Amino acid sequence: MNNSTPVILAIESSCDETSVAISVNSKITANVIANQTIHENYGGVIPELASRVHQQNIVPAISEALRISNIDKTAIDGVAFTQGPGLLGSLLVGVSFAKSFALALNKSLISVNHMQAHILSHFIAEDKPQFPFLCLTVSGGHTQIVLVKNYFDMEIIGETLDDAAGEAFDKTAKILNLPYPGGPLIDKYAKLGNPKAFRFPIPQIPELNYSFSGFKTAILYFLRDQIKINPAFIEENINDICASVQESIIQILLTKLKKAATQYGIKEIAIAGGVSANSGLRQSLKELEKQLGWKVFIPDFQYCTDNAAMIAIAGHYKYLLKDFVGQDVAPMARMNF
Ligand code: KG4
Ligand code: ZN
Repeated sequence: MNNSTPVILAIESSCDETSVAISVNSKITANVIANQTIHENYGGVIPELASRVHQQNIVPAISEALRISNIDKTAIDGVAFTQGPGLLGSLLVGVSFAKSFALALNKSLISVNHMQAHILSHFIAEDKPQFPFLCLTVSGGHTQIVLVKNYFDMEIIGETLDDAAGEAFDKTAKILNLPYPGGPLIDKYAKLGNPKAFRFPIPQIPELNYSFSGFKTAILYFLRDQIKINPAFIEENINDICASVQESIIQILLTKLKKAATQYGIKEIAIAGGVSANSGLRQSLKELEKQLGWKVFIPDFQYCTDNAAMIAIAGHYKYLLKDFVGQDVAPMARMNF
């Protein structure tokens, strides 16, 4: 392949998913995701275990992606990898593999910021957002409103001061004795419940920022008080509790997103990250699209939670810019845009 139609091999290992994707001139030909179920037993991701499982998964995932794409490793032009942010031990597995692969086969090495990649996942689909657009990036570790001026020119205009939206889902689920990660389960039960059954306080945070730590504590105290009156309160009301918690989180997220859209005069609005898989959030955004004349971009489910296809698309655009890194590159647990 020549340089204007690059073939990118992409590796994502920032948290608990080992994922390998291949793109051929920006078309995703494989997106292999090896989920790590081991963490379900512990109520959260155990970093030490995550890095060990990445180590076991990475070579089979690479072979599988090459096999699905029917591509020989020699045909690859660039090797893209998540440099950060994420768990250091997990990142190290992907970064080390990418460096070794690029060195052994003399390929270009491309570093990708995981949060930028979540946003750039919107460039996988045919219907792509126009610059500038706003992206609400909501994952297990981040909650950000990002002004996206160009592929790699992004500005965080609002973010959480403490917990992320995904943590609010996961920590609530833990209080409700649901296994990790709780977000998808809260979503599932919420579909059967009344979102107005219980009210939780909406945090009043200045500007375009968020806070979820007080919200989580309010839920904890609410449930503790209810259980004193009725020990079976959670089991009897699980659907209504989940629907009400989800509704409050969506309210919190969208109030600031609407404020940002007005402040910046932007109507192209995207969501990204694991929490963008939430059916209530997706539905509410579609309603806002009609109400406010927004053009809303919601990723396919497979591109919401962590995946290497988003690393491949980010890698593709960096390849076109010839934005490569050397063998001295190292993982970064914290990484700014
Ligand atoms: O982006 P992601 O896969 O990993 C990080 O980079 O953190 O996001 C994972 C987060 C978890 O907190 C998980 O509970 C949440 O996304 N999540 C959901 C749903 N699916 C995943 N939260 C609410 N509703 C969902 N359907
Ligand atoms: Zn993520």
